[in-house]
Amino acid sequence: MTTPLIEVEGLRKSYGDRVVLRDLSLSVQRHDVVCLIGSSGSGKSTLLRCLDLLEPIDDGVIRLEGKEISDPLIDPREVRRRVGMVFQAYNLFPHLTVLDNCTLAQVKVHGVGRDEARDRAVDLLGRFGLADKAGARPDALSGGQQQRVALVRALCTSPEVLLLDEITAALDPELVGEVLEIVRAEARAGMTMVLATHEMDFAREVATRVCFLDAGGILEQGTPEELFGAPREERTRRFLARVLR
Ligand SMILES: Nc1ncnc2c1ncn2[C@@H]1O[C@H](COP(=O)(O)OP(=O)(O)OP(=O)(O)O)[C@@H](O)[C@H]1O
Ligand SMILES: [Mg+2]
Repeated sequence: MTTPLIEVEGLRKSYGDRVVLRDLSLSVQRHDVVCLIGSSGSGKSTLLRCLDLLEPIDDGVIRLEGKEISDPLIDPREVRRRVGMVFQAYNLFPHLTVLDNCTLAQVKVHGVGRDEARDRAVDLLGRFGLADKAGARPDALSGGQQQRVALVRALCTSPEVLLLDEITAALDPELVGEVLEIVRAEARAGMTMVLATHEMDFAREVATRVCFLDAGGILEQGTPEELFGAPREERTRRFLARVLR
C-alpha cells in the first residue's frame, strides 16, 4: 500500500461548544476523486477548510504524503503550494484581469517567472474555453465563466490535490455543466480531488469514492455503486431518498 496523499485520523473540531467534526478519519490516495456528501451542517466545508489549514483543529492528525501538516509549527504556505482550493464564491480579485488573476499566485507564492506564469495561464484558459476572456475583469463574466477562471487559477499553480467546496452551488443550472466539465477533465487526467457537492449525479459519475458525512463523522463510504446503489446505513438511505427524490 502506498502512502496516502492525504490521511486524516481522529480529527475533532468544535466551534465553541458545538462539535462539528468528531473522530473523523479519511484516507485519500493519489488519483482518488473523493466526493463528500451529506446534509447541510454535516461538516463538509469544515473538513475541507481543515485540510487546507484554514481552521485550527482540536485533536487528531492530518498528513500530507506521510508528513504531519496539522503540526502548528508547519508553515501553511508550504502546504498550500501543494494543495489548491476553490470555493463556492469564486473569490477572484475584482480589480485584476482574468489573466492577472491566474498569474498572481504563481508569481507571488510559487516564485514562477512572469513569462512562464503567463504562458501557463494562457494555455489553461485556452484549454477551458476562456482564451477570449484573458483581458476581461471578473465582473464582465458570467458566474460559470468566473468559476471556470477560479478553477484555472487553482490549476495554474500545479497543485497535487484540489479541494473543491460546492463549486457549482451559486450557479444557475444552465451554467453548472461547463464548470463540471473542467472537474471531469481533471479527474480523467488523474488529478487527486476532494470535493463537497450536492450534485449527486455528478458525484456518481466522477467519484472514485463517496463519503457520507453525518453529525461530523463519515458514517459510510464506498464506491458510487455501493453508496448510491446499496447504502448500508439507514441515515444514508434517508438522506439519499430526500436528495434523489
Ligand atoms: N466559523 C464558524 N463558527 C461557528 N460555527 C461554524 C463555523 N463554520 C461552520 N460552523 C458550523 O459548523 C457546522 C458545520 O458547517 P459546515 O459549513 O462544515 O457544513 P456543510 O456540511 O459544509 O454544510 P453545507 O452543505 O450547508 O455547505 C454547522 O453547524 C455550522 O453552523
Ligand atoms: Mg459547506
